[in-house]
Amino acid sequence: MRLSFIISLAIFSTFLSCNDEVVIENSPIDLTHIPYTPTPFILSVPDSFPIFEQPSDNLMTSEGIDLGRHLFYDPILSKDSTMSCSSCHLPQGSFTDNLRVSQGVEGLPGTRSSMSLLNVGFHYNGFFWDGRSASLEEQALLPVEDPLELNAEWPEVITRLRRSEKYQEKFRSAFGITNTNGITRENTAKAIAQFERSLVSSGTSKYDKVLMGRAVFTDEELMGVKIFFDRTPDLPDGECFHCHSAPLLTNNEYMNNGLIPAEEFEDFTDKGLGAITGLLIDNGKFKVPTLRNIEFSAPYMHNGQFNTLEEVIDHYNEGGKISKGSDALIQPLGLTEEHKAALLAFLKTLNDEEFMTNPDYQDPNG
Ligand code: HEC
Ligand code: HEC
Repeated sequence: MRLSFIISLAIFSTFLSCNDEVVIENSPIDLTHIPYTPTPFILSVPDSFPIFEQPSDNLMTSEGIDLGRHLFYDPILSKDSTMSCSSCHLPQGSFTDNLRVSQGVEGLPGTRSSMSLLNVGFHYNGFFWDGRSASLEEQALLPVEDPLELNAEWPEVITRLRRSEKYQEKFRSAFGITNTNGITRENTAKAIAQFERSLVSSGTSKYDKVLMGRAVFTDEELMGVKIFFDRTPDLPDGECFHCHSAPLLTNNEYMNNGLIPAEEFEDFTDKGLGAITGLLIDNGKFKVPTLRNIEFSAPYMHNGQFNTLEEVIDHYNEGGKISKGSDALIQPLGLTEEHKAALLAFLKTLNDEEFMTNPDYQDPNG
């Protein structure tokens, strides 16, 4: 079947090369008549956030973000035009898919759980659970050709985009390209990265309001805060903040939180960071995810093994599994039912529903 496909492709392309009309369509279309007046975009973030840095060769503009948003939601990026980035990163799941592990085109199951894109522009230490991508620009290239995700070929995707009048206009407005040859995978990835960097906390979570002095925690939430941040000798230390550090609720590191039972470093079937660095001691380490909006992004962990936050808290309270290389902070915590409920109440103060319903983040096609 593959062979006959190649043969018919060969015949087809011979046919194309002697067909003037198609040759004209393939030559670049001039776009200089479309205005190019980029508007620099100033990202607004909660006061407590670190300084926002963006790559100097891909500064955010309103036009770039708009293009990225259209691409993010457009199934034009997938093999059979059935899926887009947003199929696995939905606003209502804080940009996850709420599945244990993601499903690619034709329903093929992946091996890992989708990750929240909230504040992803503040991550400086790699992307994916195993950190295999260094930048958002680099990351955005991968799902398109991943057989378990969009399963398409870049040349085919670029051809489709170059043919689209909508995208001719949007790539011109975003990047000032002079003709359709400027519609490239690099510019596609840049625009998607710009949109992703715009996905930031609204500052209206209860937690952020308390930090800004505009709200106060209830007694129960306050007890949860003290456990989470090891604030007082009267309550057990939860140790959470060492890894889920404020204000982003992640330290951007790769760690083993005692999830997978493993007596030796060789025992991890999904090696995580170790598969990327090649170091045995990195086997079983995964990216520390943010806990912002955590209530909305179940199931939890890289393999989606917990369905509820109660299960997650029990996992930590029990000191996790015996897992080679698990962090010293992962040890029985001695939390009572009251303490666990308090920790959960604190985690819910990280809810940011305005982030998920922000009109600027939704599907531009309605
Ligand atoms: C089939 C579902 C699926 C599709 C489609 C998909 N993703 Fe993902 N995404 C995932 C999964 C699963 C992970 C974690 C994968 C891993 O660690 O190996 C992930 C991880 C990411 C991350 C890393 C976040 C972090 O904190 O490190 C980013 C960024 C991202 N995806 C953006 C995109 C973009 C942009 C697209 C479209 C071009 C896209 N995704 C398409 C499922 C998907
Ligand atoms: C040693 C570092 C460390 C400590 C301490 C720690 N975590 Fe984690 N946490 C992680 C890592 C790493 C992951 C992702 C693990 C994976 O998927 O393999 C994670 C995942 C989670 C998740 C799931 C997030 C998601 O998007 O799926 C929740 C919820 C969570 N932690 C809450 C807590 C709470 C509450 C505490 C304190 C009781 C805590 N963590 C302590 C490192 C830590």
